Amino acid sequence: MNILIIGSGGREHAFSWKLAQSPRIGQIYIAPGNAGTSAFGINVPISPTDFASIGDFVRSNEIDLVVVGPEEPLVKGIHDYFLDNPYLKNTPVIGPQKAGAQLEGSKDFSKQFMQRHQIPTAAYATFTPATLDAGLRFLETLQPPYVLKADGLAGGKGVVIPSTLGAAKTELTAMLRDSKFGNAGSKVVIEEFLHGIELSVFVLCDGVSYKVLPSAKDYKRIGVGDTGLNTGGMGAVSPVPFADAEFMSKVEERIIIPTVEGLKKDGIPYQGFIFIGLMNCGGDPYVIEYNCRMGDPETEAVLPRIKSDLLDLFEGIATQTLDARAYETDERTAVTVMLVAGGYPGEYEKGKLISGFSADSTSLAFHAGTLEKDGKVYTNGGRVIAITSLGQSIAEAKKASFAYAEKIKYEGKYYRNDIGMDLESVGNPGEK
Ligand code: AMP
Ligand code: GLY
Repeated sequence: MNILIIGSGGREHAFSWKLAQSPRIGQIYIAPGNAGTSAFGINVPISPTDFASIGDFVRSNEIDLVVVGPEEPLVKGIHDYFLDNPYLKNTPVIGPQKAGAQLEGSKDFSKQFMQRHQIPTAAYATFTPATLDAGLRFLETLQPPYVLKADGLAGGKGVVIPSTLGAAKTELTAMLRDSKFGNAGSKVVIEEFLHGIELSVFVLCDGVSYKVLPSAKDYKRIGVGDTGLNTGGMGAVSPVPFADAEFMSKVEERIIIPTVEGLKKDGIPYQGFIFIGLMNCGGDPYVIEYNCRMGDPETEAVLPRIKSDLLDLFEGIATQTLDARAYETDERTAVTVMLVAGGYPGEYEKGKLISGFSADSTSLAFHAGTLEKDGKVYTNGGRVIAITSLGQSIAEAKKASFAYAEKIKYEGKYYRNDIGMDLESVGNPGEK
């Protein structure tokens, strides 16, 4: 089977690495890809939101299946574009249609969905520029800190958590009256602050049945000890030790089943990944957000723990036979450490020569923001390389990832040297 993967990050490198292991894989193409994906397929210079060019490419290259990595093309309707075109409608797309992608594309939609299907989440209210005054009064009824979320996609920056009432009012006004987040902030969800520990659960869904993939914990902030500015993700650990069998059965009963059944009840077809951001509040799971795709860098920690053929699972999604497909996980722990450019997530430079890759290492180096030129690899983004290692414990996996991270060299390299540290004392319950 010939596959087209849409995207250019560590997630897409991990997809191409995993799909290349399938006995039935044909040619892999990645649009636009990076220096890492070209080891497993052919990079094609097409933007993920240029649907017309993607469609032309699919038709002229006998593509059998399209895997969409990032949220933007899904929220903009890439899957619908295929279904609406007589020449493309029979090419399966992994990723939901626009309606399902609203779970990520609109915070207000996802909160209404959870409320409709009694899925545990923080209490909330939604405001628009016309109801700004009511929003300011609503803030006065809440306890700090205050959680304000721009309704639409805002590149991971649309959630603001001010700690004082004054700051919350200023922020709400900036979002609704002064269009701080442009159109994405034309509605704002204000919600109750949940106290607890975060984790992410990933579900593969064919619209009828589902499979629960390994859980992961992301490290969002730039600084050691989870301090400083938010980033796209500085590392990940899978499995999450506190997501034991008891907790995961609560997640399945209270969240995953009602989500999949809720989509069916609402008549929303869903063929792709559901990424559920959760808060563990004293042993009870609450949904913080849904995403309509896999996480990055979570994918780089999760896929190495899936033993089964990912292409077979994707075919299961395409033909709604996911139930019948083999699914087995690796008991070991994966620790992913993200190497970033100096200055990230603020201003940073690109084009720094990268050296130190080792072909005989057991660790995996997934390229996030890299570019190949004349046989050399250069930095080409804020997040540069994700290093993943598997081990019998977090300590073992972490040690291997940090050792490889030290070998890779480029000017300005930075990584968090505390990935997994907060989870280590809890041990590994051997989550399935
Ligand atoms: P989101 O984009 O909705 O995942 O929000 C970004 C981050 O804000 C989350 O990963 C949490 O750390 C935090 N957050 C969002 N909603 C809440 C909430 N209701 N209570 C506490 N923290 C939250
Ligand atoms: N690592 C968080 C995300 O992919 O949204």
